[in-house]
Amino acid sequence: MNLIFLGPPGAGKGTLAARAVEILGIPQISTGAIFRAAIAAKTPLGLKVKAIIDEGKLVDDETTVALVRERLSQEDTKKGYILDGFPRTIAQAEALATFSKIDKVVNFDIPDAAVIERLSGRRVCKNCGANYHVLFQKPKKEGICDSCGGELYIRDDDRSEAIQKRLEVYRAQTAPLIEYYRQKGLLVDVDARPAVEVVEENFKKALGLR
Ligand code: AP5
Ligand code: MG
Repeated sequence: MNLIFLGPPGAGKGTLAARAVEILGIPQISTGAIFRAAIAAKTPLGLKVKAIIDEGKLVDDETTVALVRERLSQEDTKKGYILDGFPRTIAQAEALATFSKIDKVVNFDIPDAAVIERLSGRRVCKNCGANYHVLFQKPKKEGICDSCGGELYIRDDDRSEAIQKRLEVYRAQTAPLIEYYRQKGLLVDVDARPAVEVVEENFKKALGLR
């Protein structure tokens, strides 16, 4: 199954994708995580995108599409994949359609107030990228990742100005994809407001998995 996870920043796309990987046995491809790994490794891509991402703006379509195209050519995507955070513009969606066939687009629906609450308390593992929250998804030991023991940090784009910018960018450039995919008959809506376990149930129902 080839899936897109669509939704505003902080909707819980990454958190649910980690669970969906277990449920469906297909890889999660997060463009944001690929960019953050490149930034941490100070590769040419990382150096090019760091300032853009820290400000909460979008990386250009050409760079992002090339990255996804290359990733989707790898063997582990043959049985399906979850695109987490891609496409984010109509141009990216149109480019994607030329090299991939999407089965369903999962739209994580959540109001801005909840997004701000989630992003301002998020902690991320430096090593494996797992997401935590200081109130809603606490690690067993403060500051340490449950799965790999890595150190937890605050993303540079989780500062309040960058959060506001990301919400603006989402509304202007990404939200139009909801109607775009609805018209193609591919969209399924998932209420992303409840606790993670409930969102997981909503997701399974939306995909007819239970
Ligand atoms: P990206 O990494 O994709 O960031 P994003 O879309 O802003 O989304 P987030 O990762 O912030 O949120 P999420 O929905 O994954 O939520 P999470 O599960 O972490 O992109 C980063 C940047 O890279 C972009 O701004 C852009 O610059 C660039 N980029 C990426 N893709 C691009 C593209 N296609 N084109 C151009 N540029 C691109 O959850 C958030 C928090 O809430 C966590 O703390 C979590 O523990 C908690 N939480 C999750 N679910 C629940 C729940 N149900 N109840 C309570 N708490 C919850
Ligand atoms: Mg994410």
